[in-house]
Amino acid sequence: MWRRSGIRIVRPRGGGSPDDARGSTTPREASARATALSIFPRPVGVDVSRQAEMLISGRGLRPMPASMVKIFLDTANIDEIREAASWGVLDGVTTNPTLVAKTGRKWSEVIQDILALVDGPISLEVTTTAGDEMIKQGRQLAKLHKNVVVKIQMTTEGLKAIKALSSEGVKINTTLIFSANQAILAAKAGAKYVSPVLGRLDDMGQDGMQVIREIAEIFGNYEWDCEILVASIRHPLHVIEAAKLGADIVTLPFDVLKKMTQHALTDVGLKRFLDDWQKVPK
Ligand code: E4P
Repeated sequence: MWRRSGIRIVRPRGGGSPDDARGSTTPREASARATALSIFPRPVGVDVSRQAEMLISGRGLRPMPASMVKIFLDTANIDEIREAASWGVLDGVTTNPTLVAKTGRKWSEVIQDILALVDGPISLEVTTTAGDEMIKQGRQLAKLHKNVVVKIQMTTEGLKAIKALSSEGVKINTTLIFSANQAILAAKAGAKYVSPVLGRLDDMGQDGMQVIREIAEIFGNYEWDCEILVASIRHPLHVIEAAKLGADIVTLPFDVLKKMTQHALTDVGLKRFLDDWQKVPK
């Protein structure tokens, strides 16, 4: 989760103290600092303006990054979830009616299996469209397990439900977000997560990553307790770009997670090590 707590001195890459950042120890930092401070004047009584800090640090658009991008699986397939969990990199799961339908299994059985396998946020989506119905269904879903996050679609009825449920302490993931304006409204209503649906924007020829960029920049301006959960990821480059922008979470199909583990040079290198090991006298 990202929180902004005013101005913060960034520790430069490769070690160094906060004082180094303040003093711009390298020519690159000095020049970035000078440029940044000429664009964004230094506020009275503050060491480094937030915008300057962002440029100096070379970080994405979010000046106070989370400890590490979290990885969720976007699936209802238990075998995939079990396998990813065994790799030690799985932080949570997102589901939707389409993903559960693909399994051919009963919803309740699938959800029970997921909740038993993963100790992290598990998004379960409401399947009604009227606000009061969403609230009722959301309460039932939230009662299933402490890890349940209720996934609510970005509609005006959905906003009513987000407001009501989040006031009761239910964690909400707002889905079907395709613009920064929708993300603003979901966060204001009290959502814990906003899910911009990246790949579907790309599919129709719109730059999905631009929407993520805008959301990250806007959220960077405020102390909102709302995480950016990038959904509809199609390939590993989406993960890299989203993480560079400071997205809190990426939710991935299993095949994208698998591709993230792979590189041709890793295979070549491993083969050489094993072949050479055979030549070592034992
Ligand atoms: C988002 O809320 C959905 O669960 C999902 O990430 C959409 O992915 P898709 O575009 O691959 O269906």
